[in-house]
Amino acid sequence: MILSMIAAHDPNLVIGKQGTLPWHIPEDLAHFRERTKGHTIVMGRGVFEEIDEKPLPGRRNLVITRTQTYSNVETCNSKEQVLQLISGEEKVYIIGGGEIYRLFYPECTRLEITSIHETHDGDVYFPEYRDQIGSRWKEVFREKKKNMTFIDYDRIF
Ligand SMILES: NC(=O)c1ccc[n+]([C@@H]2O[C@H](COP(=O)([O-])OP(=O)(O)OC[C@H]3O[C@@H](n4cnc5c(N)ncnc54)[C@H](OP(=O)(O)O)[C@@H]3O)[C@@H](O)[C@H]2O)c1
Repeated sequence: MILSMIAAHDPNLVIGKQGTLPWHIPEDLAHFRERTKGHTIVMGRGVFEEIDEKPLPGRRNLVITRTQTYSNVETCNSKEQVLQLISGEEKVYIIGGGEIYRLFYPECTRLEITSIHETHDGDVYFPEYRDQIGSRWKEVFREKKKNMTFIDYDRIF
């Protein structure tokens, strides 16, 4: 199984501000949709609330929370339960937010990063991974756009 974290971060690894994205970049949202469609996505309760507790269409949605139960998505109360539920899947996307990226960083085998060129104010950060490029992560894809660069890394085993 490919366990991939898909995230957009700024040069300081900022990913969120006051419960939402610090930027509005339609091209990145389209990239996210394109990459994740047809796959399983795993998100924290914070992200699920951000999308108004409505599952993203065309994808199997899993929400991780210790406090809530939702009737319209699969709900898990631990990382172990998520890993059990997704075993057998070909590709699974961890879609955030900050707590969930940190929780799954040790297990994930791919990073699909949108590197936002400009800095933004924020209060939620992606885990530091850049010091492990070359030792833990090898770049396998790069596409530069006007305001951002898409970069994929595969885990080095
Ligand atoms: N730029 C990007 O690519 C990107 C992507 C996604 C999100 N974001 C941003 O990230 C921010 C949200 O991130 P966040 O860190 O606040 O929230 P989050 O990671 O979405 O969700 C946190 C919640 O997940 C649950 N949780 C965490 N660890 C758990 C565990 N071990 N077992 C069970 N449940 C667990 C808890 O829910 P309970 O309290 O219910 O137990 C916790 O409150 C927003 O600003 C959003 O815009 C950015």
